[in-house]
Amino acid sequence: MDTYDVLVIGGGPGGYVAAIRAAQLGFSVACVDAFTRDGKPSLGGTCLNIGCIPSKALLDSSEKFEMISHDVQEHGITVEGAKIDVAKMLGRKNSVVDKLTGGVAYLFKKNKIKSYHGYGKLLRQDEGGWIVDAAGTEVKAKNVIVATGSNPRALPLAPFGGNIVENSGALEFGEVPKRLGVIGAGVIGVELGSVWRRLGAQVTVLEALPGFLLPADAAVSREALKQFQKQGLDFHFSVNITEVRDNGGSVSVTYTEKEQSVTAEFDKLIVSIGRVPNTEGLGAAQVGLELDERGFVKIDEHYHTNLPSVYAIGDVVGGAMLAHKAEDEGVAVAEIIAGQAGHVNYDVIPWVIYTSPEIAWAGLTEQAAKDKGIAVKTGQFPFSANGRALGHGDPRGFVKVVADASTDKVLGVHMVGPNVSELIAEAVTLMEFGGSAEDLGRTVHAHPTLSEALKEAAMGVGKMAIHL
Ligand code: FAD
Ligand code: NAI
Repeated sequence: MDTYDVLVIGGGPGGYVAAIRAAQLGFSVACVDAFTRDGKPSLGGTCLNIGCIPSKALLDSSEKFEMISHDVQEHGITVEGAKIDVAKMLGRKNSVVDKLTGGVAYLFKKNKIKSYHGYGKLLRQDEGGWIVDAAGTEVKAKNVIVATGSNPRALPLAPFGGNIVENSGALEFGEVPKRLGVIGAGVIGVELGSVWRRLGAQVTVLEALPGFLLPADAAVSREALKQFQKQGLDFHFSVNITEVRDNGGSVSVTYTEKEQSVTAEFDKLIVSIGRVPNTEGLGAAQVGLELDERGFVKIDEHYHTNLPSVYAIGDVVGGAMLAHKAEDEGVAVAEIIAGQAGHVNYDVIPWVIYTSPEIAWAGLTEQAAKDKGIAVKTGQFPFSANGRALGHGDPRGFVKVVADASTDKVLGVHMVGPNVSELIAEAVTLMEFGGSAEDLGRTVHAHPTLSEALKEAAMGVGKMAIHL
């Protein structure tokens, strides 16, 4: 029987990174992953195959289309007759996915990681390890890392199928739906809703809660909502979905809004109401792997499950369901198995929403800091006063810095505007090193750059912003 020091179940960003780090640390490593794309094994999990990467590829294509069709006119450029070839756009997206999933397979070979395609199932504990069914082959592993990720949550009233799709279906529409319904104004709702709106769909977003992007800073979500509404996304808040019917040619959705019952007709309906942990096929119940009440694998602060030498990371353990959180947990768990001090700083996990304008934040919001009883000072700087943003022709949004009122330590940075997906990294680094608003404000930033908006927001904390 093949025996490994580390067997990883799941080849998404959590699992494949854990496997590579474990191999770097000198372990013999195997990874069993069940993901299949176009009938073939495809490493990289949700993120590379049907999540982060393909959604960003379509966001980029659709943004270019919108820019060429409308936004370049103020630069004195007129382009007539811009057209979209949806099949070509999807083909480009698929080739980006192929490159990256193939890249993971290459990295596995390079690091001598044995790859099994199919389900991984914990069978029984054996002397010094676990016997695992790795895609039909029994193997032995001294340590097992569970990184089986998550699946879209279905609305019981609207099971996926036909015209009712989850994220993977929403990345594959063969033509632009005229009328697109989205249930859930969360991250997927606004990103994929934006893709199809830019390509010409009339998009209606139905959200159960009264607010929008609630984990974000209130000023950021207010600004983002204003911008998205201006673009034509039609949001309905505090709705209660009462009936969803797929009529073959279209989907009718009945919901109550302000005590009125409304029925809307869509060509396609995306249901994006969150994700649930995936423990399917893992054999959790048979071996007594403990799950919490919502189905997440229970772990301690070192990723140990209740079973000896079985660890778990990524979406399947809950917390922020983000690829970079899963990746960093992958590095940490491999180091912990090697007896090192693997660690993830959960206080500074960046969130980025790749809409236009982009949204990004890390650390505490002003409200969250106040709720913790921390007195804060804030500084805010608009991109409309930033030379580079004006030059780009995209001065929407602002940067807000939240700092501890007594120590000046930066507790959170919140942004909505151009390229903030990249700007947030500087804020994360500063917070990782416990930097102050003054540290950031007195750091020289190149001119003219968007990053000066971050510097000025930090200077604003000490009432020193120059260009406001
Ligand atoms: P996954 O990526 O889900 O990988 C788990 C793997 O395990 C899968 O390949 C699955 O097939 C396999 N598996 C499951 N059970 C078994 C088993 N028993 N045996 C063998 N294999 C098994 N995050 C970001 O940070 N940035 C983004 O821009 C972003 N965009 C997203 C867009 C969309 C549309 C979606 C749906 C998600 C997005 N995410 C994004 C979230 C991100 O994809 C997840 O947080 C990330 O993929 C989690 O990684 P993971 O390794 O825990 O699990
Ligand atoms: P989400 O949690 O971001 O949003 C779900 C929304 O649906 C919430 O606003 C919720 O109130 C609403 N909702 C729930 N039940 C509802 C109902 N019955 N009717 C109407 N609305 C309802 O979940 P989403 O968008 O599905 O994304 C899942 C996760 O994937 C994200 O939380 C994130 O972790 C990850 N992701 C990350 C991205 C990024 O980092 N850019 C991009 C896309 C996804």
